[in-house]
Amino acid sequence: MRNLSIKGIQKQFFTPPDRQIIALDQIDLDVRGGEFISLIGPTGCGKTTLLRIIAGLEIPNSGEILLDGMPVDDLHRISTLVFQQYSLFPWCSVIENVMFPMEMKGIPKDERQNRAEEYIALVGLSGAEKAQPYELSGGMQQRVAIARALAHDPEVLLMDEPFGALDERTRHRLQNALLDIWKKKRKTIIFVTHNIDEAIYLADRIIVMTTEPGRIQEDVLVDLKRPRNRLDASFTELHLKVRNSLERTV
Ligand SMILES: Nc1ncnc2c1ncn2[C@@H]1O[C@H](COP(=O)(O)OP(=O)(O)O)[C@@H](O)[C@H]1O
Ligand SMILES: [Mg+2]
Repeated sequence: MRNLSIKGIQKQFFTPPDRQIIALDQIDLDVRGGEFISLIGPTGCGKTTLLRIIAGLEIPNSGEILLDGMPVDDLHRISTLVFQQYSLFPWCSVIENVMFPMEMKGIPKDERQNRAEEYIALVGLSGAEKAQPYELSGGMQQRVAIARALAHDPEVLLMDEPFGALDERTRHRLQNALLDIWKKKRKTIIFVTHNIDEAIYLADRIIVMTTEPGRIQEDVLVDLKRPRNRLDASFTELHLKVRNSLERTV
């Protein structure tokens, strides 16, 4: 699995009449292939913009994204973005939703079907293949979105507050489902969250960002064995550390 390097990324936006926002300023970050990174920081610090740049949906003003040290010109092919809103096609069944991106990639029908079934099972939704999105709870819809994102086998999974709209219990279940899949399929994951507890539970490393300009404030190693226990002293210690770091950003 290739290592991802974010090198000297700068991105500014102009908003009328003449305001200039430095959304990202000199972002340097090295992510090992297969590593699980959490990005955390106040609203407006450029988290979504950074994911969009890594996904090839936004062009930075300067800097580049490298894989194993090489520039990539088809970033959108190596990564997938999962949003807070499940963004399923409401007129398609669960399995049709999961198969759709594979169809776009030209994967043959039988293989699409097999892979979709495998990933629907991995997210714990076997039996719901023919259901329509409106029949599913928010947590189940987000499981479908994860299956859809992973079934076409991206090298990098980018997640933008994917569990932000879910209640705590559902969120914890989905965190465990995601960790299970990550263990089985070894993906590089960059996961944006507002929730310190979620970042510590999931990630190998937490990147704390500051706003205006968006910069990396601190890179916190989460050196805890999985499965992690939220009640452990080492967990709560890290919680405090990240919280203090976040408080310094505002
Ligand atoms: N398309 C855009 N045009 C103008 N400003 C933008 C645009 N996208 C983002 N911004 C601004 O850039 C900054 C970072 O935004 P964003 O990446 O969405 O932050 P976050 O996801 O951390 O909340 C914010 O000030 C936001 O208003
Ligand atoms: Mg955002």
